Parts: sequence; structure tokens; C-alpha cells
Amino acid sequence: MAPSNPLAAPRETRRFVRRILRAYADAELTMMVHLGHVTGLWSTLTDGPGTSRQIARRSHQDERYVREWLHAVAAARIVAYDARSRRFSLAPARARALSGPSIYNMAPGSLMIHLGAKNLDTVAAAFATGEGVPYSAYLPEFPRIMEEMNRRRMDALLVSGYVPLLPGLSEALARGIRVADFGTGSGRVVHRLAQAFPRSRFLGIDRAAAPLARARAEAKSLGLRNVRFVRSDASGLRRFGPFDLITMFDAIHDLGRPEATVRGVVRALRPGGWFLAQEPRASSVLLDNIGRTGARFLYGVSVTYCLPVSRSDGPGGLGTCWGEQRAKALLRRSGLTGLRVHEAPGNALALVFTARRPFSPRRSR
Ligand SMILES: C[S@@+](CC[C@H](N)C(=O)[O-])C[C@H]1O[C@@H](n2cnc3c(N)ncnc32)[C@H](O)[C@@H]1O
Repeated sequence: MAPSNPLAAPRETRRFVRRILRAYADAELTMMVHLGHVTGLWSTLTDGPGTSRQIARRSHQDERYVREWLHAVAAARIVAYDARSRRFSLAPARARALSGPSIYNMAPGSLMIHLGAKNLDTVAAAFATGEGVPYSAYLPEFPRIMEEMNRRRMDALLVSGYVPLLPGLSEALARGIRVADFGTGSGRVVHRLAQAFPRSRFLGIDRAAAPLARARAEAKSLGLRNVRFVRSDASGLRRFGPFDLITMFDAIHDLGRPEATVRGVVRALRPGGWFLAQEPRASSVLLDNIGRTGARFLYGVSVTYCLPVSRSDGPGGLGTCWGEQRAKALLRRSGLTGLRVHEAPGNALALVFTARRPFSPRRSR
């Protein structure tokens, strides 16, 4: 029998191999985005074109490493290369998406992928046991990454974009109300609202100590006197409530006991109180998500972080892409009324759910 030709794979297989190779190449590009972010090389390129020597000198880094990185991002067609002058340049429209204060700066998102990759062995072991991976496995990076990813957007849009989603809330905050942010992490929502509305009082609650330490330190450095951060679960809300507004940013899908916890959160609202939650943008129907870039990114975050962490604190398991339909059903079951779904301001990967606690249980729908 003639030996089979190893190159004679069906065309379909060869095409698929190229598809996987493109994925690997993009994964390497993600690492280059990460390196450009943490070394400051994207900012250096934003300051203007240069040879590898000039860019290394301007960024105070080793020329050989800088040159290889520049070659990698040039090969990926992220930066332009002029062979005559040997200069590398980053177009201004791209610079805004990779550095600086714009809400379009995507570079911090690479940190999340880096963190997931760091914990892959632990997550792979959890596939065998079904157990969760504790939040502590993702320290110290996780709170810093969430903060870096969200800070610019929250600073720019929390007051002007999110607050107006609830009619009358802005005026009430200005007059002075009681607000809690549940699953507050490093407290950016609390800090920003407390700065904008000094007559209102804010409580940030989280079960994890590490992000709360960051939240308290920042509140102190901002000189905020109307905020308090408490380490607790939903039971802590009852101790300090009732509240006129409770927010939950990217928290529900990470919960170990989502039904019981959200019910506890709603019970801590005064009758007629406002509720606002942000959750990842996805459909609860897998077929709707297939092929969508945002969903592909979110499922990856789910497998490497959200799902394992939620299972370390109870049955959990909603997953990052549990989706709009299931979110609406859970929030209605929790006793909220007047539920509305909004595009998240400045964030194509999230939805915002607003609702109220009914004045009387009978008016709930
Ligand atoms: C994805 S982070 C979001 C943090 C913050 N809201 C933000 O948007 O940056 C989810 C947060 O929920 C907290 N969390 C999860 N389960 C909790 C529970 N049962 N009680 C209180 N906090 C919880 C986690 O510790 C974590 O800080």
C-alpha cells in the first residue's frame, strides 16, 4: 500500500487549520496589546512616529525588545512601517483605541485575557471536579483590572448617561437620598456618585476584602465624607437599609446564589425605591450568540473567570452570557416592577436593567 500523503488533508480541514492559526495569531496580538499597555509603548507611539531606537529611547526601554514588539505589531498591521525611514507610526484614530483617557481605549481589556490565561491550569482542574475557583485565585490583579477597564467610562458617563435612565433620580440624588452599590469591587460607582451628589449617602458592599481596601483608600484620597464600605453579602444591606437606590454593576452573574441574593437586595429597597443593574450583553438563546464577536469574548471571560468564581460561593453557574431574557425573568421574580432594558452608555458589551420596588406587593408585575 502506498504511504498516505500527510499534506493531502481535505480542503475543508486545511481551511479550518488556517482559521485556528488566525486565532492563535490574534491571541499573540492580544499579548502584544497587553505589553504595549503595561510598558507604555502605545503612549510613546501616540507621541509621534520613530525608529525602534528613537521609540526605545523615548520610552526608556531596551531597543532590542522594543524592536521585536514593533515588528510584531507592524506585521499585524496595527502600526504602519515606512521601510525608507525605518520609522513606525500609529494613526491617531488607532492611538485613541489603545492609549489615553478616551472611553474607546481598549487596551485595558487585554488585562482580562492575560488574567484568564494565568489561571488556565486551575480552571482546567475544576472541569474534572466541578468545583469553583475562589476569587482569591485572581488576586491581586482582578480588582485593578476591573477598575482600569471601567474607570474612564464611569467617570465620563455615570452621572450624565446612567443616572438619567431612571426619571427623577438625578433630582433625588441632588436633594439627598440613601444609596447602596452591591458587589461594589473597588467602589468606582460609589466614589463618582458621592462626588457628584454630596447630599446623598453611599454604601459600597462587597464580600471580598481586597477590592474594599482599594475603595476605602481612594475614598480617603478623594476626601469623601458621604461614603462607607462594608464587607458583607446581602445580609449587610438589611443592617444598613432601607435604601432609595441600589445598584449592581457586573455582579449578578458572579453570584453563588443569584436568586436569593437579588431577592435580598430588593428587600433592602424602600417601597418605591430604584434599582439599576448592569449585566453583560448577550441573548439567553445560544443560537443568537453564535458568531457574535462580543459574545465570543464574553464566553471566554465566563469560562476563565465568572463561572468558576460563581461556583466557589454556592451553586452559582449563571455564566457571563446568561442573557437578557433570563436576567429579566430573575429580576421580575425578585419582586421588581416597571422593568426596562437599556443600551449601556458607552459600552456595546453590556445592558442596563432599571426597575423599582413596588409600593405594595400587589402592584408587582
Ligand atoms: C465582576 S466584579 C464587579 C465589581 C464592580 N461592581 C465593578 O463593576 O467594577 C463582581 C463583584 O461582586 C462581588 N460579589 C460576588 N458575590 C458577592 C456576594 N454574595 N456578596 C457581595 N459581593 C459579592 C465580588 O467580590 C466582586 O467584587
